[in-house]
Amino acid sequence: MITVIGLGFVGLTTALGFSEKGYHVYGFDIDQKKKEQLRNGKIPFYEPNLNEKLNKHLNKGFTITDDLQEAVINSEVIFLCVGTPSKTDGSADLGYILEAIKNVAGYIKKPEFKVLVIKSTIPPSTTSERIKPYLENLGFKVGVEIGLTNNPEFLREGYAWDDFMNPDRIVIGQDDDKSGRIVETTYHTFNAPIYRVSLNTAEFIKYLSNTMLATLISFANEQSLIARSIGNIDIKKAFQVLHLDRRWSGAPANMTSYVFPGCGFGGYCLPKDTMALVSQALKNSYTPELLTSTLKVNEAIKEFVVSDVERIVEKNENIGILGLAFKPNSNDIRDTPAKAIIQGLLQKGYKNIIAYDPMANEEFKEVYGFPIQYSPNLSSLLSMVNHVVILTAWDEFIKNEESIKKKNVFDYRFIYQ
Ligand SMILES: NC(=O)c1ccc[n+]([C@@H]2O[C@H](COP(=O)([O-])OP(=O)(O)OC[C@H]3O[C@@H](n4cnc5c(N)ncnc54)[C@H](O)[C@@H]3O)[C@@H](O)[C@H]2O)c1
Repeated sequence: MITVIGLGFVGLTTALGFSEKGYHVYGFDIDQKKKEQLRNGKIPFYEPNLNEKLNKHLNKGFTITDDLQEAVINSEVIFLCVGTPSKTDGSADLGYILEAIKNVAGYIKKPEFKVLVIKSTIPPSTTSERIKPYLENLGFKVGVEIGLTNNPEFLREGYAWDDFMNPDRIVIGQDDDKSGRIVETTYHTFNAPIYRVSLNTAEFIKYLSNTMLATLISFANEQSLIARSIGNIDIKKAFQVLHLDRRWSGAPANMTSYVFPGCGFGGYCLPKDTMALVSQALKNSYTPELLTSTLKVNEAIKEFVVSDVERIVEKNENIGILGLAFKPNSNDIRDTPAKAIIQGLLQKGYKNIIAYDPMANEEFKEVYGFPIQYSPNLSSLLSMVNHVVILTAWDEFIKNEESIKKKNVFDYRFIYQ
């Protein structure tokens, strides 16, 4: 049996979803009015499919209870789906979740092992740094006497049922294997890949998703403001044409390769065009904050690479640079991140830099004229260095993982596991 605490959009969908999968589910909420309404077979908000599912499962697989103790005693897994609203300073208000945990924990009698699953959205590190110590203060050895996991929810209002029943992925954050395994088993009939990761990773994955969506929306809005400042631009048409780009679909090098960390954008187009549109908007009295930040982040990531290398590598050591072109399958070195990064390393006092790119050695040497060496192939570079810095995700570097990984690798393109 399962208990779901908090019967809002997420909790009610979770409770009915597990009922549909054949579990007996207890639903608990502190809002008596909400529970009465649900007991009368009516959901207090609009969401397709949920009314029908409520009436199908109510008092059969789904019990709305006032008796939290009974629910907790009979359940092995307890999902917490209470709200986590913003406080006035913008931080997440954990009051509801801590209160709910205290109430639940009060009914857990050792040595029964129950797993708490935080489904509410909470900022990365909250489970390990706030909730775990909170449970320990309540007298539980976490991972031994009580299980603690998180399981972010990705459903969208308006599509909640389908998103919950057919998820793209199920993410389970765990500290101990036993708790993660129990939650994974709970989801065993869902046809979706399950990722068991650290508590912080699971929380981060949820914020990665939401902040990306928020950024894309602000990006689109900022573009519409730039367009308005310039005038005579069909904004709707422009976006519709943007959506025809094959990078939105499964084409090679599609949008996933853009929404992926690396060491900055480069090449002929993205840097110069972003700068030009910023300057055009400024001329038209509109300051595009997001694009200005986009350019700043593109500098910051390269500065990070230099300081990260400096943390580990002594100034008199050899450094191998793998990749000079701004992206694989190209010998374009215009505004490539390798330029600023090598320049930064030289300024820091590194004198023994050896670079190799499958296609761009000559171009880079000719255009930038840096006092560095160039290796004609990968193996000769590897024979000369203990440290390699991967700046371009060439297939050759992916294929030669074994020999490259014998060195200390700075994998700034995240090409390896
Ligand atoms: N709404 C979404 O689309 C969505 C999607 C994914 C994740 N989330 C996250 O899921 C969480 C819940 O969101 P929601 O939209 O379902 O919120 P909601 O406000 O609709 O529901 C929360 C419910 O928790 C109840 N509650 C509060 N304290 C309680 C307690 N101590 N014991 C029992 N019940 C208690 C409230 O009465 C309320 O019914 C939030 O952290 C939210 O960020 C929401």
